[in-house]
Amino acid sequence: MNSTTRTSFMAIAVALGLNGAAGAAELRIAAGDTGDALVLLREHLDQFEQISGHSVSIVEMPSSTTDQLAQYRIWLADESPEVDVFFIDVIWSGLLAQHLHDLTEAAGDVIDQHIPEIVASQTVDGRLVAIPYYTDAPALYYRTDLLERHEKVPPETWAELEATAQEIMAAERAAGNTDLWGFVFQGGLYEGLTCNALEWVASNDGGSFIDAEGRITAANPNAASILDRVAGWVGSIAPPGVIGYREEESRVFWQTGNAVFMRNWPYAYALGNAEGSAVAGLFDVVPLPRGSMGTASAGTLGGWNAAVSAYSAEPEAATELALFLTSEAVQKDRAIRYTFLPTIASLYDDPEIAEAQPLIPAWREVVENAVPRPSAPTGIHYSQVSQEIWTAAHNTIAGRGDAAGNLAELERRLRFISARGWGS
Ligand code: GLC
Repeated sequence: MNSTTRTSFMAIAVALGLNGAAGAAELRIAAGDTGDALVLLREHLDQFEQISGHSVSIVEMPSSTTDQLAQYRIWLADESPEVDVFFIDVIWSGLLAQHLHDLTEAAGDVIDQHIPEIVASQTVDGRLVAIPYYTDAPALYYRTDLLERHEKVPPETWAELEATAQEIMAAERAAGNTDLWGFVFQGGLYEGLTCNALEWVASNDGGSFIDAEGRITAANPNAASILDRVAGWVGSIAPPGVIGYREEESRVFWQTGNAVFMRNWPYAYALGNAEGSAVAGLFDVVPLPRGSMGTASAGTLGGWNAAVSAYSAEPEAATELALFLTSEAVQKDRAIRYTFLPTIASLYDDPEIAEAQPLIPAWREVVENAVPRPSAPTGIHYSQVSQEIWTAAHNTIAGRGDAAGNLAELERRLRFISARGWGS
């Protein structure tokens, strides 16, 4: 951490009124283990402990958001005081709102610094249920060395990606690079596949399964044609195991140097350039490709937010912690060292961030144009809806039925779930 950052940590301490003298609380925070996220979190918690006098332990969660949600729901249904602060995925605010503290007043002085759409996504019935921590919008990672060697440019359409991957794989394999594959993404049975599927379909002008008004649009020819195309990649340009991959499996595969392209979130950028990565300095990023029927690329809007459990025995200290972790100094440190996209708008113009991680200012536009999953229109039903979406996508890419049939079945199931409306 540099001296500017250290000074800003002290400034937050003053702003939050943290002086280490108030009654010390013992807090627990639940956080997913992705990349080096927990190592970095621990450093920030140590800072918080020093300036607040509270102590904080991490309750380690799996990296998959789907697995995290399952555990959160058990704790929250039990009204358990086990965890004081949760990081919640951008899509879970509606589902968990009733179990979370209203942070509107506590965050009153700082909330306007954050990108308004993200704040809106964490505001449920006028209550701010979580404070934005970082935002997410995916990138197409590509190997600069391989594209250059084979005189290719980064693809703008999925068809171009397929052709480039095929060509480079064939030439490299013929030259002895037999472990090389063309493309890795997230094909496992979980929320990440819903994100990938939304990107394929929306970028081919096939909608977002359910539109902003809650109308089901899943079964349509543009959605079907792109999903059938993706199914053709498994075992040809993508390793057969991709249908079980989540973010970390794709990243690890990529970092061994065995893929030409990867779809992943920005956290993989800093890690890919870190010591020990076989692709350090050998890759760059562009927005995801679009489908042949589409006019624009589509990146799913992701991101995480800090929430205080309604069942915490230490709500005030927990709120201080949520404010600390989402503060400008922490977001800046996370951006510089691990390419986590800030939710504080001014950080996209920060020269130190731009210098350390050029991806971040370049990604502002991708964040602004990111496509939301249908969590707002489907409310408390979203987790069921998403499960149906990833199941239909998975069946298709795993070769169980064609896309048209699987999307028709998806529509039938979504109609069943929404039979009495999404609100009930
Ligand atoms: C990332 C995103 C999150 C998304 C998840 C899917 O963590 O930030 O919004 O749900 O990936 O795997």
